[in-house]
Amino acid sequence: MAQLWGGRFTKETDWLVSRFNASIPFDRRLYRQDIEGSVAHVTMLGKQGILSQEETEAIVTCLCDIRREVDEGKLEITEEYEDIHSFVEAKLIERLGDTGKKLHTGRSRNDQVALDMRLYTRLKLTETDAALKELLSVLLRLMREHVDTVMPGFTHLQKAQPITLSHHLGAYFEMFKRDRLRLGDIFERMNYCPLGSGALAGTTYPLDRDYTAELLDFYGPTANSMDGVSDRDYLLEYLSALSIVMMHLSRFSEEIIIWNSNEYGFVEIDDAYSTGSSIMPQKKNPDIAELVRGKTGRVYGALMALLTTMKGLPLAYNKDMQEDKELTFDAMDTVKDCVTLFTGMLDTMTFCEAVMRRSAAKGFTNATDAADYLVKRGVPFRDAHGIIGQIVLCCIEKNMAIADMELAELKRFSPVFAEDIYDAVSMETCVGMRNTAGAPSREAMERFIADAQAYLAEERKFPGAEDAAKQA
Ligand code: ARG
Repeated sequence: MAQLWGGRFTKETDWLVSRFNASIPFDRRLYRQDIEGSVAHVTMLGKQGILSQEETEAIVTCLCDIRREVDEGKLEITEEYEDIHSFVEAKLIERLGDTGKKLHTGRSRNDQVALDMRLYTRLKLTETDAALKELLSVLLRLMREHVDTVMPGFTHLQKAQPITLSHHLGAYFEMFKRDRLRLGDIFERMNYCPLGSGALAGTTYPLDRDYTAELLDFYGPTANSMDGVSDRDYLLEYLSALSIVMMHLSRFSEEIIIWNSNEYGFVEIDDAYSTGSSIMPQKKNPDIAELVRGKTGRVYGALMALLTTMKGLPLAYNKDMQEDKELTFDAMDTVKDCVTLFTGMLDTMTFCEAVMRRSAAKGFTNATDAADYLVKRGVPFRDAHGIIGQIVLCCIEKNMAIADMELAELKRFSPVFAEDIYDAVSMETCVGMRNTAGAPSREAMERFIADAQAYLAEERKFPGAEDAAKQA
């Protein structure tokens, strides 16, 4: 294996050691960030007079050529190198000779890899944000369409009170909105440039760290060189934000799986997003929702694994940190796929409005409203609760709903009942009267939807990451 060191060694590295030590099988995906960082570093070296103008230009041009050739598939990233940093530097030296050997002046792979990973995470964070925004747009459309779609709301998975589909989806809108806000917070904390931290103690060259930070669209350089090379907090924060995204997706998936069951029949997942059985011809399975729910475990796993990897590390860089990559890459890829597929599934799903409404009308979701009816006519709440409880018991025995009971019979439980009870316990009244902020009435939902729309119209700017996304 071609390596960057060797002066003090008298023996070749054992090949198993090389293979165990190497990160190129997975850090190859950082080639664009590695080159972007090197271009900024060398541009700064030129500005500071550490390299000549000709050397600087030659190196920048050659680095850009290498990037383009890899982009176009003309230059293959081969595994005879330990990592992506060695690969790029070796190609540069192959082409430029001694000039190429000057690239690494005033830099270590420690600050280099810290930079590459930050650049990559910054880019992926904005992609996650964009994918979540798509999901929120689909939710907004569905919320608008289903302001009057009555369905049962549940607690303990038991029918509780009637709500609307719009209201139910609004809960998820809030969760995914908070997920985006979390990503934005993380971006604010992580957007500082570790380049120039050197191996751990900075460098004796007169580097201009503010300048490289500015070239790479960071808010500024990291403030302590030891922290600069050994901080992986931002990855832990990102993995924890991704874990929460997955937790939300998993809860939603679970609901869709229940709603899609034969017993519920609230939704029908589109054929394009369902799968069949190899043996049972009648089956249409919600595999995508199940997989999203299942993959939550591996994203949590990445967070736990990296927390554990980091917990015992003395300052500054330790090779253990190389373990951050596969875990984080896998979590990033998984979440991107899950959000994208989930959005597609939701966007194409049929909501069986009549089934939902029928389900809400059964199961005594209006029992609270019936009790409130009595309270409004002077019955103390605790007594009203008891009276309606008796009515419900009687209805269960007779297999009927409260609204099916004759007025004369209702009056046997309480003389307060009058003809207007039927209107008071209709699904429309139960939902329509719930008009507090955040509640399901049409009026309250229209206010919620207006806010949601205004929120989605705002553009969140992520400096640096947007340009990288455009180039990619
Ligand atoms: N592949 C290494 C990593 O991912 C790059 C940094 C290597 N630095 C070192 N001192 N060996 O962490």
